[in-house]
Amino acid sequence: MTEKPFLYVVVCAAGVASDVGELIARAQERGWEVGVIATPLAMNGFFDAAAVEARTGRPIRSAWRSPGDPRPFPAPDAVVVAPATFNTVNKWAAGIADTLALGTLCEAAGLGVPVAVLPCVAGALASHPAYRDSLTRLRGMGVRFGDPYAGEARPDGGRPEFGWQRALDLLRD
Ligand SMILES: Cc1cc2nc3c(=O)[nH]c(=O)nc-3n(C[C@H](O)[C@H](O)[C@H](O)COP(=O)(O)O)c2cc1C
Repeated sequence: MTEKPFLYVVVCAAGVASDVGELIARAQERGWEVGVIATPLAMNGFFDAAAVEARTGRPIRSAWRSPGDPRPFPAPDAVVVAPATFNTVNKWAAGIADTLALGTLCEAAGLGVPVAVLPCVAGALASHPAYRDSLTRLRGMGVRFGDPYAGEARPDGGRPEFGWQRALDLLRD
C-alpha cells in the first residue's frame, strides 16, 4: 500500500478557526494524511482541539519538541495555513520563527513544497502597509493565497462562507 501524502494544516487564532474540522475532513477525502500545527493562541479555545485530534488521529502540535525527542510528524508534502491571521502573516514574511507554527512556515518555502494560505483579516487591518508588503513578499516566495476574507458579519447577521476547500485547490494549481 502506498503511503498517503502528508499535509500540515497550520491554524491561527481567528474566529473562523472553529470550523477547521471542515478543512481537515475535505483534505482527508482528497487522500491527504493530516497533521495540525496550531499557534499557541489558537489553542486558547479557538477550535475544538479534542475533535481535531480525534479526526486526524494525531496530537495537535503547538510547542517545539525537546531536543532529544523524535519528530512527531513526517516531513510535509504540502502546507496549508487556514485561517491565517494578520499577526502570523506579518511575522512569517519578516522571518520570525518564535512559535512552532511560524518556524514551520518559515521553513516550508525552502523545502520546495506547495504552501497555500487562506487569510482571515479584517479590512481595516488588511489596509496596513506592512500587511500589503508581507503578501507581496510571500507571493514572491511562491506562496499561494486564497481571496481576501474579512470575517465580518453581513447586515442579516450571517457570515459569508470561508471557502476552506480553496486551500486544497490552490495546492493543485
Ligand atoms: C475572538 C477573536 C477573533 C479573532 N479573529 C481574528 C481574525 O479573524 N483575524 C486576525 O487576524 N486576528 C483575529 N484575532 C486576533 C488574533 O487572535 C491576534 O492578533 C493574535 O495575536 C493572533 O495570534 P496568532 O497569529 O499567533 O494565531 C481575533 C481575536 C479574538 C479574541
